[in-house]
Amino acid sequence: MAHPSTLYQVNGKLGNPHFQLQSKSIPELTLRIPTTLDVAAIVEVLQNKANSEFDKSVSDATPEELESIAQRWTIVNEPLTHVNFLVQHNGQVLGIAGLGWIGPVNSDGATATCHAERAGAAGVMLQPFGRGKGYAYEALRVVFDYGLRELGLVEIRVGSHLGNLPMKGLMEKFGLQPEATAEEAVDQFGNDLLWIVKRDEWFRTDY
Ligand SMILES: CC(C)(COP(=O)(O)OP(=O)(O)OC[C@H]1O[C@@H](n2cnc3c(N)ncnc32)[C@H](O)[C@@H]1OP(=O)(O)O)[C@@H](O)C(=O)NCCC(=O)NCCS
Repeated sequence: MAHPSTLYQVNGKLGNPHFQLQSKSIPELTLRIPTTLDVAAIVEVLQNKANSEFDKSVSDATPEELESIAQRWTIVNEPLTHVNFLVQHNGQVLGIAGLGWIGPVNSDGATATCHAERAGAAGVMLQPFGRGKGYAYEALRVVFDYGLRELGLVEIRVGSHLGNLPMKGLMEKFGLQPEATAEEAVDQFGNDLLWIVKRDEWFRTDY
């Protein structure tokens, strides 16, 4: 069992209504699982074109699809398939961050046992008014650590688009270099950049 994180305080238990992660370096910054009352706030974040310019999974979605995405995020399932958080600052919703996918680390997931090692895919999206203040870095740092430490994931993948300079800059701040920029690496959402955060490396490095 990994030691508790020095980066954030875990309040409550995942799945419990008061569960939240509170940043230690920015205590006003919290991450919590949305409830059905937050669906409209999530849709507002997803619908803002300034947020989805590089994210086809969102920019191509209809309002009904966005609502269904947001509804899905209110559910904590077992085994976990996703953990998406609302990012708040002093109670104000800034955006979202989390693991939109959790699954077997190897692509032959269909044959994997329930004890197979798991990986996650992370992302962060903040409303323009919340940007440029280090909150995205902090939210993603908490998500990475929570996924690797508390959920026991072996790696977390982050996909983005070559043209997404803010995201490239953000990942560089973690000292991470993309794995692949080759055209053949483009996924179904148009992402042509992939970073992989490995558990062992994460625990060896001081982020
Ligand atoms: C990417 C995004 C989350 C960054 O948010 P942010 O709040 O500005 O990021 P932070 O303030 O935490 O900045 C952290 C680092 O990112 C880098 N960065 C942020 N904005 C940048 C920009 N416009 N250009 C280059 N680097 C940038 C910098 O290295 C910065 O560190 P510094 O302030 O010490 O220089 C935000 O632009 C966003 O929500 N974009 C739309 C959604 C999206 O594309 N998400 C990524 C897909 S997963």
